Amino acid sequence: MSKSPVRVAVTGAAGQIGYALLFRIASGEMLGKDQPVILQLLEVPMEKAQEALKGVIMELEDCAFPLLAGIEAHSDPMTAFKDTDYALLVGARPRGPGMERADLLAANAQIFTAQGKALNAVASRNVKVLVVGNPANTNAYIAMKSAPDLPAKNFTAMLRLDHNRAASQIASKTGKAVADIQKLAVWGNHSPTMYADYRFATIGGESVKDMINDDVWNRDVFLPTVGKRGAAIIAARGVSSAASAANAAIDHMRDWALGTNGAWVTMGVPSNGEYGIPAETMFGYPVTCEGGEYKIVEGLPIDAFSQECINKTLAELEGEKDGVKHLL
Ligand code: NAD
Ligand code: LMR
Repeated sequence: MSKSPVRVAVTGAAGQIGYALLFRIASGEMLGKDQPVILQLLEVPMEKAQEALKGVIMELEDCAFPLLAGIEAHSDPMTAFKDTDYALLVGARPRGPGMERADLLAANAQIFTAQGKALNAVASRNVKVLVVGNPANTNAYIAMKSAPDLPAKNFTAMLRLDHNRAASQIASKTGKAVADIQKLAVWGNHSPTMYADYRFATIGGESVKDMINDDVWNRDVFLPTVGKRGAAIIAARGVSSAASAANAAIDHMRDWALGTNGAWVTMGVPSNGEYGIPAETMFGYPVTCEGGEYKIVEGLPIDAFSQECINKTLAELEGEKDGVKHLL
């Protein structure tokens, strides 16, 4: 018997990540090739955005995806999130010329407060929320705090692009296949302060740290390359990463929903105090997923260098949290 459709809400649906994301969700790459989906697409009410969204919908229709059981266009989160099982919050306010970080935080706080409240009011009680729009960790924190009737653990932020970037750099350094890399972790904020950590990583059972055996490369090449990859892509393309960001969003949701078979992946999730991170901080952690739930990998030793890196990314997140405190 075929499965009943699930509802997938995507915000910023007419943007560039949306364009790289929706077709893959509709073709079954996110939730499985046997799972029909109804897309509930949200864009800002402006005519230009709504027109662009119509164009994307025409293209989705023209793909005749067998798994696409319905498409809806919305300009209000209260209707876009109705009964939704999955919500990918991609749309956000980009930083404009002359805009200070505080202005950016405030503009996004408004968006994610409203969207958190709407999820709280109308989404499925089991909704899985992924925030992609930057600053992703703090936006996810705001949405979570604005949805007190939903479990906090249902709110997550995207660190998977950083995880995939780190894996790819390690594959290229070691000359091994990216698919063989296990037990990689990225700690903290989706920002250049993130700490990509290969101390526990293995390839074919062998330690990646021993294989590379170069702490200077780790500190001076690997970490800055992964941390500043987003900026390097903006410099090269003139716009921010879109296909790789959409791909990471698919990876994040697929693994959360369908499980990782014991493999580690990175998700930004609300802390319960693990590794001394204050409770509720939306922090990148290594996790495993099973039965639709993620579990933080606990008990890993943190050496002095790692603690320093974790403290730095945590301090940045605490600063962002402080910057929006009065808006919540
Ligand atoms: P984009 O500007 O091409 O598209 C964003 C879309 O969101 C626009 O169509 C806009 O109209 C819409 N939008 C804005 N506010 C909205 C709201 N309140 N409700 C619904 N829709 C809204 O941008 P993009 O390239 O698709 O990137 C989207 C976001 O993802 C940006 O914030 C970007 O910085 C972020 N990003 C995050 C990661 C990550 O790893 N977490 C990676 C890449 C990009
Ligand atoms: C990325 O990591 O590619 C993006 O978050 C960059 C950005 O600032 O949009």
